[in-house]
Amino acid sequence: MNQRVLNEIQELRQKRKAVILAHNYQPAEIQDLADFCGDSLGLSLEASKTGAEVIVFCGVRFMAETAKILSPDKKVVMPDRWAGCPMADMITAEQLRTLKQEHPGALVVCYVNSTADVKAESDYCCTSANAVEVVNSLPRGKQIIFVPDQHLGRFVEEKTGRDLILWPGYCPTHVLIAEDDIQEARRQHPEAVVMAHPECSEPVKQLADALLSTGQMLTFVQSSPARQFIVATEVGMIHPLRKVRPDAEFFPAGRRGVCPNMKKITVEKVLASLASLQYEVTVPEDIRLRAKRSLERMVEILPEK
Ligand code: 13P
Ligand code: SF4
Repeated sequence: MNQRVLNEIQELRQKRKAVILAHNYQPAEIQDLADFCGDSLGLSLEASKTGAEVIVFCGVRFMAETAKILSPDKKVVMPDRWAGCPMADMITAEQLRTLKQEHPGALVVCYVNSTADVKAESDYCCTSANAVEVVNSLPRGKQIIFVPDQHLGRFVEEKTGRDLILWPGYCPTHVLIAEDDIQEARRQHPEAVVMAHPECSEPVKQLADALLSTGQMLTFVQSSPARQFIVATEVGMIHPLRKVRPDAEFFPAGRRGVCPNMKKITVEKVLASLASLQYEVTVPEDIRLRAKRSLERMVEILPEK
């Protein structure tokens, strides 16, 4: 890696009073230079409490928007303006308003992988780490609309025993991980424990030993006696897993679990982002205030350990 670029990042991040946040799926070199790495929930919490003046968000747009909604006085920038999450764009605020009209009185829970406009139309936000707790906290007699991820929604239905009104959104990366990938990985590593993200398809989840958010995977492997793990989520996850369990072996479930948007961030783009404070992420104030309510309710409900 180019040491000069790293030195310049180091200098500029101090000068700008910036904090660099990175999601667990970011390329290894981005995770290594970040001040904080984590899952969507951890990053939201970090964004809401950091004292920095600038947040350089190495992840996808909805994550940077979440940081801006929770920290409006900070400048939030993304090193690549096109790093989006296709799942987040699978439902619009207009479509959600129509769904609400079809189910008057229902509460709306949106996955954090959604646009600010959709969060503004929702009562509660959740991440994959606390979706079960958020739904469990809602009154039993109420109908619940859950958007946009049908696969996380089905996982929540199973864990809570409640029927949800689901939207047919999905993660194009996680649905590429197939049953065959798990079976083949198990054949090669029969002793390994299979961890899968709740965004995976139902047949893949059926084959897994544990269904976990990215942050929960990190906690899980630290207390597991196993020494081999098959990882059914985006491949970037292998890097932080190896860091917390250097004695263990981690195998991706097939080769297709790559999120092209997460991989748009490069070290050079992080430097350019710090140098010219680009690309700024903004959220209109009326949307921000409404979206903030649903995020604040989420931040209050932490996952059970
Ligand atoms: P986590 O909340 O588990 O970090 O997942 C975010 C994500 O985008 C999964 O595809
Ligand atoms: Fe979105 Fe899937 Fe990429 Fe996560 S892995 S950011 S859900 S496209």
